[in-house]
Amino acid sequence: MDATSQEARAWQLLEEYAGRFRPDWKDSMLAHAGIVLDLASFMAGLVEGDIDMETLRLGAILHDIGRTKAERVVEHGVLGGEILRAEGFPEEVARIAETHLGVGITRDEAERLGLGPRELVPVTPEERIVCYADNLLFYIKDEERHELRDRRAVVERFRAELGQEYAERAERFMESVEALAGERMAELEDYIRNYNGMLKKEGKRRR
Ligand SMILES: [Fe+2]
Repeated sequence: MDATSQEARAWQLLEEYAGRFRPDWKDSMLAHAGIVLDLASFMAGLVEGDIDMETLRLGAILHDIGRTKAERVVEHGVLGGEILRAEGFPEEVARIAETHLGVGITRDEAERLGLGPRELVPVTPEERIVCYADNLLFYIKDEERHELRDRRAVVERFRAELGQEYAERAERFMESVEALAGERMAELEDYIRNYNGMLKKEGKRRR
């Protein structure tokens, strides 16, 4: 299958799972995946060195597919990996789903959370960039809209939810991914500003 039809299949699969198991979340899941896809692809273009764009794009579309079947939010990465392997997607794509929660789940944490003794930390550039992009995307529940924020907002959210230690780890992770883009990070900031403007306009149109 060529890259375009793989992507079409990825969208189809996400729609199918969301439609079947979480119809109430379907629209917002598809919108979330589309924004993470745009942001991760743009970020990947700023990075020097080899990025497998097909893996990154499929992973960005499918990273949350496990949410459709997860009873506990924390298990949706592992479930996503299982679904993607069963559906015949490459191991690299399954790993993006498995490793994208927070800034990763260490083996110790995974054991404590009942996910088994497995290291679920983003390591490859494709895994790290999708995880990074996913973190920047916030969902504002009251207003039912998506918004991209910056590293500082991400760190603050982790501080509030998971405490100081995790916040520091998140900051190191986010900085390490930004270092991949180096000076070109300014381009990402512009991209995010424009993208948020577009999201706002779209939101207005919908209402
Ligand atoms: Fe997720």
